[in-house]
Amino acid sequence: MNRREPLIRKMTLDDLDDLYAYASVDGVGQMAGWKPHESKEESQKILDMFIGHKKTFALEYQGKVIGSLGIEQYNEDHFPEFADKKCRKIGYVLSKEYWGQGLMPEAVKEVIRYLFEEVGLDVIFCGHFLWNKQSQRVQEKCGFKHYAFDTYETKVDTTEEDEVNILTREDWQAESVVIRDYDAFDRNEIMNLYTSVGWTNYTDHPQMLEKAYMNSLCTLGAYTADNSLIGIIRAVGDGASILFIQDIIVLPEFQRRGIGTALLRAIISRYPDVYQTELMTDNTDKTIAFYKSLGFTPATEFGCLGFMKLNT
Ligand SMILES: CC(C)(COP(=O)(O)OP(=O)(O)OC[C@H]1O[C@@H](n2cnc3c(N)ncnc32)[C@H](O)[C@@H]1OP(=O)(O)O)[C@@H](O)C(=O)NCCC(=O)NCCS
Repeated sequence: MNRREPLIRKMTLDDLDDLYAYASVDGVGQMAGWKPHESKEESQKILDMFIGHKKTFALEYQGKVIGSLGIEQYNEDHFPEFADKKCRKIGYVLSKEYWGQGLMPEAVKEVIRYLFEEVGLDVIFCGHFLWNKQSQRVQEKCGFKHYAFDTYETKVDTTEEDEVNILTREDWQAESVVIRDYDAFDRNEIMNLYTSVGWTNYTDHPQMLEKAYMNSLCTLGAYTADNSLIGIIRAVGDGASILFIQDIIVLPEFQRRGIGTALLRAIISRYPDVYQTELMTDNTDKTIAFYKSLGFTPATEFGCLGFMKLNT
């Protein structure tokens, strides 16, 4: 096989020559805390360990193995606050010949997808020595965020200053959120959203909620890569003189990641010529800051006052 695209697969005994070829080059392993392999026998031992422990993937490209990605334990002693979460750490190395083509970020993203979607992790750790700017860039490109500075005991008995980065499942999912029309009303998923933010005036009246959805002007949903609905925005009005934002909800665990802003921008962009866009919201610092950041002005500043009559 002579694949042109990078492929993540299990290591096999046939990979010995390729492993030795990149792991024996000076200046590669040192960046990850190990010395260049001095002989094929040494590479054979490492390969046997990779295969036996089943925690290391091969990165195959153009028909040969050019690197590896390992799934390891994170330092549980240093980070006990993650004890109730399912976490692992990713490590990686790439043949020097192939640096600078974006191959490792692509491979790491694929391993991240596997770890969140198929293994069901909550958090992925990834670290780099402070001076290893190349690895720092890989982690930035893959969405990891700074968590702590730490020390790392290398395989050659030295201690390195390490930056520890993490990627949470929610941050990863939020990165890949898409917004699209919500047109097939599903009572359970909608009730789940409204319940999550405690909007009982809707959840106590599910038939009103369903009718409201049927008669709305426009409803958009925010979906994760695995197609779960994590946010909604619903507008009523005539779409010419008035667009009234009736509901906007983002599941609490996905809030503060820009999804509410994206939903609001998306619905407004559907009606670029509408005369006035209105909404009624709780009078809290959080909501005021949110709507002001999107260009809304309190009605009182237009010399207006909102009135309401509730059918209780
Ligand atoms: C870290 C490593 C996997 C990066 O893989 P990669 O596929 O080259 O990653 P990228 O192509 O995205 O390049 C990352 C950064 O490396 C730097 N870089 C690229 N080509 C380079 C080269 N030939 N020499 C030195 N640095 C280079 C650039 O700063 C680049 O960032 P940019 O894209 O913003 O300019 C690779 O350098 C490597 O295997 N290093 C040795 C092992 C190691 O450090 N492992 C991680 C331990 S934490």
